Amino acid sequence: MAFLDARTLPLDETSAARLESRGLRMELIDTSDAARFGAWLRADNRGFYEGAIDDTAMPAIQEALGYRRSTAVVDPSAPDPTAPVATVSSWVADLTVSEGRGLDAWAISAVTVSPTHSGRGIARAMLEGELRTASAAGIPLATLTVSEATLYGRYGFGPAAMTADWTIRRARAKWTGPVPSGRIDVLTPVEWRERIEALHSRVRRQEPGHIDAWGRRWDQLAGLTNEEPEKARQLLAAGYTDEQGELRGLMIYRVDHRGGDYSQHRLTIDMLTTETDDAAAALWRLAVTMPLVDEIQAPMRRLDEPVRWQIADYRAVTLEPRDNLWLRILDVPAVLTSRRYDTNGSVTLRVTDPLGYAEGTWQLDVDAAGEASVTPVDPADDATSSQTRIELGIGELSSVFLGGVSVDTLARAGRIEGSAEAVRQADAVFRSAAEPWLPFWF
Ligand SMILES: CC(C)(COP(=O)(O)OP(=O)(O)OC[C@H]1O[C@@H](n2cnc3c(N)ncnc32)[C@H](O)[C@@H]1OP(=O)(O)O)[C@@H](O)C(=O)NCCC(=O)NCCS
Repeated sequence: MAFLDARTLPLDETSAARLESRGLRMELIDTSDAARFGAWLRADNRGFYEGAIDDTAMPAIQEALGYRRSTAVVDPSAPDPTAPVATVSSWVADLTVSEGRGLDAWAISAVTVSPTHSGRGIARAMLEGELRTASAAGIPLATLTVSEATLYGRYGFGPAAMTADWTIRRARAKWTGPVPSGRIDVLTPVEWRERIEALHSRVRRQEPGHIDAWGRRWDQLAGLTNEEPEKARQLLAAGYTDEQGELRGLMIYRVDHRGGDYSQHRLTIDMLTTETDDAAAALWRLAVTMPLVDEIQAPMRRLDEPVRWQIADYRAVTLEPRDNLWLRILDVPAVLTSRRYDTNGSVTLRVTDPLGYAEGTWQLDVDAAGEASVTPVDPADDATSSQTRIELGIGELSSVFLGGVSVDTLARAGRIEGSAEAVRQADAVFRSAAEPWLPFWF
């Protein structure tokens, strides 16, 4: 689909009317209006306790985030009737659904409601409005990352890609993996910034779960936004170039002193982006063999990475896993036919969706080439039986779509129903060899 500017879509009238009846007004913010967009950004920052934005930083933030659709709720009875009491933003992101394939996804961020106005249904009105707007514009699924895992299931979202914060105890992590034959070069954060977008645009197409990043996210990682000067001062970077001279991996990291013995530094990998196994081995090896370091932290990695088998002691690594990318399918045929599947077969899905978008029975057929077709089953002649179909909510379908959450596990958890054979078949069809993963939040 051609790029859609989410800002051009109209305000959702249903949610606007619902909030109006509660004495509140929902508005689209003109992001070229510096005063109003500035107030919106400050309200968003307050919602996440991110501290005040100072006037000198504001123009660059507005420039960087102005492309997003920014919605505010204001309270006309407040002393400042133009000050947002709630915020939400959205844009069309490019989600990798399987190797080499992308799908337009309605990315939602900046969901905040001032504590002065919480518990009045504002978040619900905003979220339902976002889903209606996306669906009306033909965007087949919505996506977000969450502050709390209990917030979004009620709107039909399910966690689809997990992540883990890794801690490696250096003393136990002797490198036993390969020593790739390319070269590693030290880079400045600015050089890392100059190279990361091109590398990431290739890497993000390799694995499901990635979305395209935006310039400000890279600037923040490179310490160029002046938001955390202490952290920026410590940033170091390295790149891996293969024997053919192609840049295949980039790492940006920090080493901080932890007091006491001078050998007790902590190395934090802020981002490790690799296109080949060699690049990953080379840059992990650099981290694991770094002098004067006794602990390595690597936030937001995959649950499963070869590095665990490239060090002497499996127990040198501890993982703190959690959900990261959440999806909400709006258009079942468009979404299920967008990815390539590793296994052929047929699955009948009876889906319940309290908001209606995905409700119904759907026949998913995957051919030998891994291409899918989806046929709605007319309720009038739905002859499928619980022997041949699985029954699941839209959140569960959204969770299993990328192939990282197992149908079998959700069935054993009582969240998907069906005969053992129907569950086995569905599990085999949805499962993906590549672990869905998104290395940042949004
Ligand atoms: C979370 C937040 C957006 C909720 O806003 P709100 O307007 O008070 O929410 P609503 O009144 O519309 O409630 C919507 C639903 O969420 C539930 N809910 C609200 N806060 C919740 C919380 N912290 N945890 C779990 N459920 C919550 C409500 O019970 C309600 O459920 P129901 O509609 O099924 O009955 C708001 O508290 C906030 O801004 N928090 C800080 C920023 C944040 O965490 N944002 C989410 C970013 S991913």
